[in-house]
Amino acid sequence: MNRMLFWGMTILSIAVAVCTAFGQEDMELVDNGAFDRPQRPPAIFEHDAHNEMAGLDDCAECHHLYDESGQKLEGESSEDQMCADCHELKDVGSKPGLRKAFHNNCKGCHVAQEKGPIACAQCHVR
Ligand code: HEC
Ligand code: HEC
Ligand code: HEC
Ligand code: HEC
Repeated sequence: MNRMLFWGMTILSIAVAVCTAFGQEDMELVDNGAFDRPQRPPAIFEHDAHNEMAGLDDCAECHHLYDESGQKLEGESSEDQMCADCHELKDVGSKPGLRKAFHNNCKGCHVAQEKGPIACAQCHVR
């Protein structure tokens, strides 16, 4: 193997390892890095296991997309973006701020379905 090819393959395999380490299938927590000074430990969320257990196959249930008039676009999703890419820390018009966006999405569904945690310490586990 020539040296260029060797280094090329080494870099590629590192890149693949890094990407899979941050893929949704290995996700265990919701990152809280978008908050200035997080007050709580990051929330437990084992992405794929959670969604399988809860029977969620529509990605847009959480990764939604809206048009300019605030209409939800059916059949389209935004899983290539972070919630914080669209949700600022504060509310903007009818678009909830980041913390409210997470709470309304997560807790909202748990309350509606009467399943899943709704107490602070059940999600923000120390
Ligand atoms: C269903 C899960 C869930 C429950 C229940 C929940 N949270 Fe959260 N909360 C989240 C998620 C997800 C985030 C986004 C960032 C993260 O992982 O902390 C968040 C973010 C926050 C933030 C902003 C980030 C920070 O740490 O400063 C605060 C403050 C917070 N929650 C407080 C609370 C309090 C207080 C309660 C109870 C009244 C509560 N949460 C209940 C899931 C939950
Ligand atoms: C119950 C809500 C929910 C559902 C359903 C859901 N996701 Fe996610 N997903 C999340 C949250 C929350 C994050 C973290 C986003 C953030 O931190 O801003 C995330 C992150 C991701 C990421 C980024 C992973 C990373 O670590 O950066 C990908 C990719 C992803 N989801 C793909 C999908 C796909 C594909 C589907 C449908 C098969 C899906 N998600 C369904 C809530 C969900
Ligand atoms: C591509 C941009 C975009 C992304 C990414 C995005 N949102 Fe939103 N979201 C919006 C917009 C725009 C609205 C407001 C629609 C309106 O004006 O009523 C909204 C509304 C909401 C609402 C209130 C309406 C509802 O559906 O209950 C919640 C909760 C919410 N988002 C949570 C989330 C969470 C959690 C994530 C990440 C998993 C996320 N959003 C990712 C753009 C986005
Ligand atoms: C559309 C509905 C829905 C949404 C959105 C949702 N959940 Fe859940 N979640 C459920 C259901 C249903 C269960 C219970 C599954 C069971 O016990 O059969 C559950 C269970 C859980 C559990 C306990 C089981 C486990 O995986 O450890 C945690 C923690 C949890 N959810 C966190 C979250 C967080 C954090 C979010 C937001 C990022 C979220 N959920 C969004 C429906 C939802």
